[in-house]
Amino acid sequence: MNEKLEEIKKELAEKFEKITNMQELNDLKVAYEGKKGIITEMAAGIKDVAPENKKEYGMQMNELRQDFQDRYEKAKAKFEEERINQKLKEDTIDISLPADKPNMGSKHPFSRIIEEVEDLFVSMGYDVVDGPELEDDEHCFRLLNYYVGHPARDAQDTFYIDEEYLLRTQTSSSQSRVMQANKEKTPIRVICPGKTYRRDDDATHSHQFGQVEGLVIDKDISLADLKGTLEIFARRILGDDTKVRFRPSYFPFTSPSCEVDVSCFKCGGKGCSLCKGTGWIELLGAGMVHPNVLRMSGYDPEKFTGFAFGTGLDRLAMFKYNIPDIRLIYGNDIRFLKQFDEAE
Ligand code: DAH
Repeated sequence: MNEKLEEIKKELAEKFEKITNMQELNDLKVAYEGKKGIITEMAAGIKDVAPENKKEYGMQMNELRQDFQDRYEKAKAKFEEERINQKLKEDTIDISLPADKPNMGSKHPFSRIIEEVEDLFVSMGYDVVDGPELEDDEHCFRLLNYYVGHPARDAQDTFYIDEEYLLRTQTSSSQSRVMQANKEKTPIRVICPGKTYRRDDDATHSHQFGQVEGLVIDKDISLADLKGTLEIFARRILGDDTKVRFRPSYFPFTSPSCEVDVSCFKCGGKGCSLCKGTGWIELLGAGMVHPNVLRMSGYDPEKFTGFAFGTGLDRLAMFKYNIPDIRLIYGNDIRFLKQFDEAE
């Protein structure tokens, strides 16, 4: 047994243990099997071996070569597999890439405010009632105490279809309809949100706008009930710190009537550009239902009293969402509407 060959075999086993990549494997091949490699030289050395030892030397040499070859093939396969796995990892297609989202649009601020107001009043036991936008003079005006020629009609010029039919100027028209429709003359508690129309057009007035009307008819309804209700309304919609102020006013269908201001929610009442330095913002018209209105709609004013209130929905949305121009609400510009995407 040639000791040198035996030593090389051992040494090779150790070296194969240590190599970690293809480059090192190739270097090893060159060092042992290259032109001047250790194994190559040992093989050439056979010529100096004594003739009686040549056979054994040759066999040992073959064994060493085979051993080298086996180890080489094994290591090569291992590194090749590692290389492929690495490549597979790098080339992975990220199937988790988000797909293009369908354009879902967003809820219009007008719809949002209506829903908010409806939710609040429904939670207080009110029904939500719709009324026609194409109204008649009788329900829009006469049954609300605006007799023909009444000066208060001047503030509500509108689009007339003919002498009797018009686009309603106020959701108050629903009051007379709801009262008339209630044949049993039982108590009423409704809100009537919807579109209204007037001959207006500037940054704070649009020819089409929205109002919500509230009407409560029952026994022993007082101004205190109206005040309490509107205070809840203002606080829930505009924030808990909102203060409410009632000023005497005039509407033909309520008596007494008032206008309701809320403390400016931008400056908290200190005075700013939104409230024009007053600290207050005019928000609602309200009052106790006029006995004539009750009577004309079939309710006995001796038995029933009630209150009514009305407010502009666009106005409410403009304050709440900080919208500077009412025309944005109706312009249908998706860049504007996008802000109201229902991310929440
Ligand atoms: N309809 C009135 C308007 O458009 C607002 C209003 C005032 C409604 C007083 C009411 C009310 O119900 O009682 O100016």
